[in-house]
Amino acid sequence: MPWFKRKENATNKSSYEKHGNRTSNEQQLSGQGAYMLPKDFREVNRLDFQHYLLKQAISGNYLAPIERPSTILDVACGTGRWMLEMAHEFPQTNIIGVDITPLDTSTITFPPNCHFRQCDIFKGLPFPSGFFDFVHQRFLIFALPVKQWPVVLRELRRVTLAGQWIEVTDPDLTFTNQGLQTTRLMNWISQASGKRGLDITIGSKLGSFMQAAGLRNVSVRKVPIPLGEWGGTYGEFLDKRFLWCRAYVETTCDCFN
Ligand SMILES: C[S@@+](CC[C@H](N)C(=O)[O-])C[C@H]1O[C@@H](n2cnc3c(N)ncnc32)[C@H](O)[C@@H]1O
Repeated sequence: MPWFKRKENATNKSSYEKHGNRTSNEQQLSGQGAYMLPKDFREVNRLDFQHYLLKQAISGNYLAPIERPSTILDVACGTGRWMLEMAHEFPQTNIIGVDITPLDTSTITFPPNCHFRQCDIFKGLPFPSGFFDFVHQRFLIFALPVKQWPVVLRELRRVTLAGQWIEVTDPDLTFTNQGLQTTRLMNWISQASGKRGLDITIGSKLGSFMQAAGLRNVSVRKVPIPLGEWGGTYGEFLDKRFLWCRAYVETTCDCFN
């Protein structure tokens, strides 16, 4: 799995600290304030890891049957890694990423067909209707309150050209056969996110939300992620990473208290 850890340096550290702090005015002014995760250095590495995990699980960067899209939108593009890889796969395509925090360009060089716009999705997407022929959004589980999902999905639909594709990926953080510690951790995450109107099982509801938003040909693909020895090398590897995430979540939890 081609995952690597970025090295922290003075430039990108100060960039994250300046722009990525969860408690910056900008996020507080965004009206919703639901986003639970920081955008510090460890989070950037976690997002990269998550990107390659999903890529491995679905054997690529997307599932929709797109062919030669001319303009792609990546909503809440984060580190921009998905956008970067799509730009290489489709060199003739313009890929636009949007996010509430600025894109950090100190560790990634983006090709000329990648573009970025800073925006708050709760205020709507700054594009005309039918502008994109593929719209992608993933891992907003800790950003979008359940009540906002229908609104956001309608906005994704608005900016997508009729007959083209929207792909939305988010997890349902329900574990099967979880142990005591995992149960405690997940209960805590569920309560903390519930207070912000977030739902950690949102992944299993997206299909019906998309249908309710008036989208047609909705297809849901569930991708189980093995965690533990029973899942072979992959499961063992993820188990170790999950422990790392656990330490991370606990630290994040301190910040919210
Ligand atoms: C967990 S990250 C996922 C990033 C990326 N989609 C990926 O797959 O790696 C969630 C992203 O949502 C962005 N975000 C949170 N609230 C937002 C909002 N209201 N409008 C736009 N972006 C937002 C955060 O800044 C962060 O980059």
